[in-house]
Amino acid sequence: MARKRVAILISGRGSNMVALIEAARDTSYPAEIVLVASNEPDAQGLERARAAGIATAVVDHRPYGKDRQAFEHALQAAIEPHAIDIVCLAGFMRLLTPWFISHWDGRLINIHPALLPAFKGLDTHARALAAGAKQHGATVHFVVPEMDSGPIIVQQAVPVLPDDTEATLAARVLAAEHRIYPQALRLVAEGRTQKTAG
Ligand code: GRF
Repeated sequence: MARKRVAILISGRGSNMVALIEAARDTSYPAEIVLVASNEPDAQGLERARAAGIATAVVDHRPYGKDRQAFEHALQAAIEPHAIDIVCLAGFMRLLTPWFISHWDGRLINIHPALLPAFKGLDTHARALAAGAKQHGATVHFVVPEMDSGPIIVQQAVPVLPDDTEATLAARVLAAEHRIYPQALRLVAEGRTQKTAG
């Protein structure tokens, strides 16, 4: 079966992107990373993608102001020539509109640094510590218009230790993210998990 063609959308350092690129280096992996696109021209991840020999695109959101859909049309235009099958969000810090999400319905996945449905949104590690959570973790899920709410593909829990700081907890969760994102993309690329309609 042909490998699925994947675009990764980033805004920052791109460590999850690197985890996906490394997994896809194995030619028996069912997906290949053909494009990395960023809304931030200076994203560190862009350099890492270029170093890995992957095509990159920058679609700065700023010229579009509040017009999210115009930004997304430009993003879509950057993705389209690459015949992309699956889009992975990896630290992509723009909220997407239903227009983009419905275009990629069932083929758009995201990683979130918490055990969803707990701690949707930002600052998940600080909030887990403040809540006294004993477990925290990471989730890969299909994207739906409601933020951090789509069907879950893979999760991994990590313990919260008594002397954890935000930084130590974040590092433990990030290591889990790097394990589960390649697993989740494999499941989607092989058609072994599917988002139900709606
Ligand atoms: C990760 O924690 C991811 O879950 C969140 O943003 C962070 C991105 O990190 N959405 P990186 O850019 O993949 O290193």
